[in-house]
Amino acid sequence: DAPGANPFEIAREAAAQIAEKTGVARHDIALTLGSGWAKAADLIGETVASIPATEIVGFSKPALEGHVGTLRSIRLPGGKNALVIGARTHYYENHGVRRVVHSVRTAAATGATVMILTNGAGGIRETWTPGQPVLISDHINLTADSPLEGATFIDLTDLYSHRLREHARSVDPSLDEGVYVQFRGPHYETPAEVQMAKSIGGHIVGMSTALEAIAAREAGMEVLGFSLVTNLAAGIQKTPLSHAEVIEAGQTAEPVISALLARVVAQL
Ligand code: 6GU
Repeated sequence: DAPGANPFEIAREAAAQIAEKTGVARHDIALTLGSGWAKAADLIGETVASIPATEIVGFSKPALEGHVGTLRSIRLPGGKNALVIGARTHYYENHGVRRVVHSVRTAAATGATVMILTNGAGGIRETWTPGQPVLISDHINLTADSPLEGATFIDLTDLYSHRLREHARSVDPSLDEGVYVQFRGPHYETPAEVQMAKSIGGHIVGMSTALEAIAAREAGMEVLGFSLVTNLAAGIQKTPLSHAEVIEAGQTAEPVISALLARVVAQL
């Protein structure tokens, strides 16, 4: 993706490569599986094709253990096609915001009208426990960046679709929801930053999703977002945070939250 190249053209090219390599001309929904959510890919339907993301234009190697670098085309029980993106580029990788949202633009270019974004995140509410999934009701983008270029003044009301959240709650009425705050990372927040996030209306802190959701809205997709609370945020939890703890919480919760996601997708 040379500077100056049109990101939407690259996304269309990526979508054409996906169609060719999977044999699936059109995908109806797309899912980005963050830490803790990867097993959902095995549960939502039958995998038609699985391709290393690095074979598709615009995708980079995953920077991190616990992040899977494949794109899968999955046939849902009802006959719809899902594109499962296991290759997230994080903002903190410093490849620029275009690269961060490339998978979302590609998903839209494959035909997807619903974008499901999942992540592992820190919880701010003391009543939440690690391993708990939370619906994202809205976000606060603290990256000071945007995937939109030029004078693209789009409305972000109801960005995390009310309709889809109601649907998710009909599958699991015990689902809590909260406002996701995207920090740049890759360090976790200080306790003071967590208090700031809380006082401005945040409930979950993470390093992804908000920029992707904005790009999904720009592309005309309906967005559903889930966070897995892998830990409580700094200062809320009394013990220091560690990446190992985050991965472990994800692994423990994975079967349960993946089954939840599979049920949400099955009934879409
Ligand atoms: Cl506490 N903060 C951020 N930014 N991301 C996280 C996290 C915390 N826990 C898991 N992912």
